[in-house]
Amino acid sequence: MPPTPEPAPTLKQLLAFYLEAGVDCALVDEPINRLEEPDRAPAPAAAQPAATPGPLRPPPAPTPSVPRSEISVSPDAAIATAREAARTAPTLEALRALLENFDGCALKQTATKLVFADGNPAARVMFVGEAPGRDEDIEGLPFVGRSGKLLDRMIAAIGLDRSKAYIANVIPWRPPGNRTPTPQETQICLPFIQRQIELVDPDVLVTLGNPSTQALLSTREGIMRTRGKWFDYDTGTRSIRAIATFHPAYLLRSPSYKKMTWLDLRAIAKALQGANA
Ligand code: URA
Ligand code: URA
Repeated sequence: MPPTPEPAPTLKQLLAFYLEAGVDCALVDEPINRLEEPDRAPAPAAAQPAATPGPLRPPPAPTPSVPRSEISVSPDAAIATAREAARTAPTLEALRALLENFDGCALKQTATKLVFADGNPAARVMFVGEAPGRDEDIEGLPFVGRSGKLLDRMIAAIGLDRSKAYIANVIPWRPPGNRTPTPQETQICLPFIQRQIELVDPDVLVTLGNPSTQALLSTREGIMRTRGKWFDYDTGTRSIRAIATFHPAYLLRSPSYKKMTWLDLRAIAKALQGANA
């Protein structure tokens, strides 16, 4: 007996599945079937033999008339461009403009806005998270959603607010459906946040959670081991004191770790006082 075929999913079930898979926004009004053959092949100027399907046929020669913007940049080239561009940004405004014009990271295409930073660029403490979520993507500012509210309370615990702290993320565009950024996306964006840290030049750098800590402090250790310890973050021209603590989104799920976070915040406050003296 052949197995009874599953009934086709209803539209509602299908939408629920998409939502679960992280597809929570429509990009265009009409669906695009990317598997469909285009109606017309781009008309070549000189007559070319019609493409006859066959396993032995060599691939067609590359058409020289492809516009530059449609040539996809290889990931390695994108990283190299990013490094080069980031290094030349003389100010935070220039760095932001560079990111606005940088097409080497595919996340930009699905994101609504660039999420560059919030707070005071002259602040003595800089917090760096992982990547924007839904609320941040809409507002174009980091940490404005639920975890942002908790981050505000963490900042208040050291006697500061957003006018006296600077906040950014390793990745400045929201990954679709809040998926984890790929290692490649992180590598592509890394030179930008590194330059951002160098330009802000805080006395204390705070990495929030595992991804930010591992990317910026070049460690493979997990947050349980890295948190609360002092690292030296080397900008290439100067060494900045850096410390990791739990990500506020994690604290919302596991409030028992707030106790340890409090200890980390005490250490940060003390370091800021020390740097003041
Ligand atoms: N989580 C992050 O890591 N960054 C944000 O900006 C918001 C949530
Ligand atoms: N995992 C993370 O990425 N961050 C935390 O703060 C805790 C667990």
